[in-house]
Amino acid sequence: MATTVSLINMKGGVGKTTLSFNLAWYAAWKKNLRVLAVDLDPQSNLSQYFMGAMGYLNYLKKEGRTVVEVFEQFSPPAAARKAPEPISPEDIVYPLQEWNDGSRLHLVPSRLELAWTLRNPTDKSDLLPRFLAKVKDQYDLIIIDCAPTESILTTSAYISSRYILVPVKPEYLATIGLPLLERSLREHKLRREDQTLDLAGIVFNDADPQRVKREHNIARNDVRENAAKYGWPVFENEARHSDSYPTGARTGKPIFLTKWARYHVANEFNLVGDEFLNKVGLL
Ligand SMILES: Nc1ncnc2c1ncn2[C@@H]1O[C@H](COP(=O)(O)OP(=O)(O)OP(=O)(O)O)[C@@H](O)[C@H]1O
Ligand SMILES: [Mg+2]
Repeated sequence: MATTVSLINMKGGVGKTTLSFNLAWYAAWKKNLRVLAVDLDPQSNLSQYFMGAMGYLNYLKKEGRTVVEVFEQFSPPAAARKAPEPISPEDIVYPLQEWNDGSRLHLVPSRLELAWTLRNPTDKSDLLPRFLAKVKDQYDLIIIDCAPTESILTTSAYISSRYILVPVKPEYLATIGLPLLERSLREHKLRREDQTLDLAGIVFNDADPQRVKREHNIARNDVRENAAKYGWPVFENEARHSDSYPTGARTGKPIFLTKWARYHVANEFNLVGDEFLNKVGLL
């Protein structure tokens, strides 16, 4: 039965997608887990990271299914179309990698039209958790990469999840998304008292490894103060700034499989990966 974790921060560009991609690879490749990554952002960056820009375009050209079908499965059909049929998980889940020992890396891709779902959001927030419930026994870990804006998609990520992971870039205005997230989480918990949803923690990304840059340290302190106020843990390990992250993403490779990344950079990410799996009870 999979443990589901959503990567959320209402601030954009902090590394939600980069970490979703690398942590999913880490869990599958290094820890032999069965992993499903879900792209819940209309920007579809995670899908492009996993499939490559061209591979993703081809997938769309071939009318490959995406998370949009999960959200729109019961939408009133156009007059010319037939009545909605139940979707089967095999149609939606794209098998990226499967290994002999049973470990796997699968993806639920996204596409831009997911933004349309937001135009008519009524009653849709339960569709993703219901879909994931059908495939949960085939995975150990489900990672959901969220968009930076709060919407019905965020609510459905909350409902689906056991844990939230919050990537933060230690920079000016680093804390800007945290009060929004705290409030939105608190409201969600009031609405769904029966659900157990915990903060796996805040993890610094794109950070200076020596921890000497003044701006980064001011930001770290601000974030820690916020975290202490909310009772949120902060990861000991950090993902450092490294051009190997974008380069790896462009070539579909996690940091520890790129030939450009120096050993200690990849090794530092392994520590983040272990701390993450530990916090969500998978190590
Ligand atoms: N550790 C890192 N070192 C260097 N560059 C990084 C690192 N992490 C992320 N980046 C780069 O920063 C940019 C933003 O990262 P990413 O897309 O993962 O953020 P995001 O939080 O998912 O953004 P959005 O809010 O738009 O979804 C990307 O160009 C990515 O390659
Ligand atoms: Mg993203």
